[in-house]
Amino acid sequence: MPESVILTIDGRAIELPVLIGSEGEKAIDITQLRAKTGYITYDPGFGNTGVCKSGITYIDGEAGILRYRGIPIEQFDREKPDFLEVAMLIIFGEEPKAVDLARFRGISTQNAFLDEAMKHHFEGFPVTAPPMAQLSAMINALSCFHPEFFTLGDECEFEEAAARLISKIRTIAAASYRRSKGLPLIYPNPRLRYAANFLHMMFSMPYLEHRVEPEAEDALNLIFILHADHEQNCSANAMRSVGSSHVDPFSATAGAIAALYGPLHGAANAEVLYMLDEIGSINKVPAFVKEVKEGKGRLMGFGHRVYKNYDPRAKIIKTLADQVFEVTGRNPKLDIALELERIALEDEYFIKRKLYPNVDFYSGLIYQAMGFPVEMFTVLFAIGRTSGWVSQWQELLTDPEQKIARPRQIFLGYDARDYVVMGKRT
Ligand code: CMC
Repeated sequence: MPESVILTIDGRAIELPVLIGSEGEKAIDITQLRAKTGYITYDPGFGNTGVCKSGITYIDGEAGILRYRGIPIEQFDREKPDFLEVAMLIIFGEEPKAVDLARFRGISTQNAFLDEAMKHHFEGFPVTAPPMAQLSAMINALSCFHPEFFTLGDECEFEEAAARLISKIRTIAAASYRRSKGLPLIYPNPRLRYAANFLHMMFSMPYLEHRVEPEAEDALNLIFILHADHEQNCSANAMRSVGSSHVDPFSATAGAIAALYGPLHGAANAEVLYMLDEIGSINKVPAFVKEVKEGKGRLMGFGHRVYKNYDPRAKIIKTLADQVFEVTGRNPKLDIALELERIALEDEYFIKRKLYPNVDFYSGLIYQAMGFPVEMFTVLFAIGRTSGWVSQWQELLTDPEQKIARPRQIFLGYDARDYVVMGKRT
């Protein structure tokens, strides 16, 4: 591999260093490009731009490979670790020892509750407020309640902040759902593990404890793991961009949640369900696919910026759906989804553009079968992804090469001109 490349710009040869990733991916280091040539690069959506060196998640989109800290995603499906173990692996880089996991779990359990004053914030929202919008607002409010985490002095303080955030987002998520349904808020149960505790806060009543089915707990645990990180996606990029101003992780997470809320990112899981409802029956699938090919909308849950192959998470979720349906009963929309996938994977339009099912295609069907309303789907994504956001934030803050995010632009507006006062404007 070359250590540098020579580019000819305006007839002048300039040498730029090359970086090689541990999996062989190549990058041209352009940090000196403008200083040496006066040029900047143009790359909307950053499809050709590496913004950091990262050791967290590796994706090979062509081969359909996803690894957390080197470990293939399929192994988490096989070994079935607890979500908090995987969160620690992602954040701290190694599988935690029992003593470390116990400490992290302890911080999480002790801080699962919400400050009573914070609970009153929910009352300020209309009951129609979407849970995802409430989540972003309430995570932002967390920084009002935890100014002590505004500057994190050492590893211990970071661990404390990370564990609280991962714990509280689950409580806030459940509370936002309860608020939207006009139901009383349910306190966390310290005897329950991460996913089970969330199901309890979602579905218990003050007078009737929800019985958490082990299959539902295992499925949700795995789904949180599958969503835990995905390298430099839109919300991770938001987390890093906001965090690059050295703001606290709670404020940066509120920004990441807002990014995830968009239909092209995390909210695609809800859009898939709306799409399946709109299609209505299997025999209408061909007509729907035809409309998509004519540019009238997108096949939600299909396509990915990085995967040009089957998303490995989608493969696992598709199998998981069968397991969950054995307990909950089959979601009738599954047949429409399967037919959509079958037709799309044989169709030249999708083949040519390398569009395959992504993580959102089947996850919503499982959520619905488990009793989650559609407005909660993206919230579930956010709960799992918080561990990834926190680790991206930490990696950024501890990387001496990182600076405040401040891209440039190509200005195409007016030249300098005079201000026209009211009355003289045509
Ligand atoms: N249905 C139909 N056509 C599509 C789709 C789709 N889902 N996705 C991309 N295309 C077409 C697009 O119209 C374009 O065609 P053409 O070359 O003729 O103009 C071509 O494929 C390339 O599309 P693009 O928009 O340039 O690709 P992108 O990498 O910018 O977009 C994406 C990636 C995920 C935003 C896009 O595939 C999409 O909108 N998918 C549907 C929404 C979705 O499922 N999002 C969840 C992503 S996975 C979870 C996550 O990480 O957030």
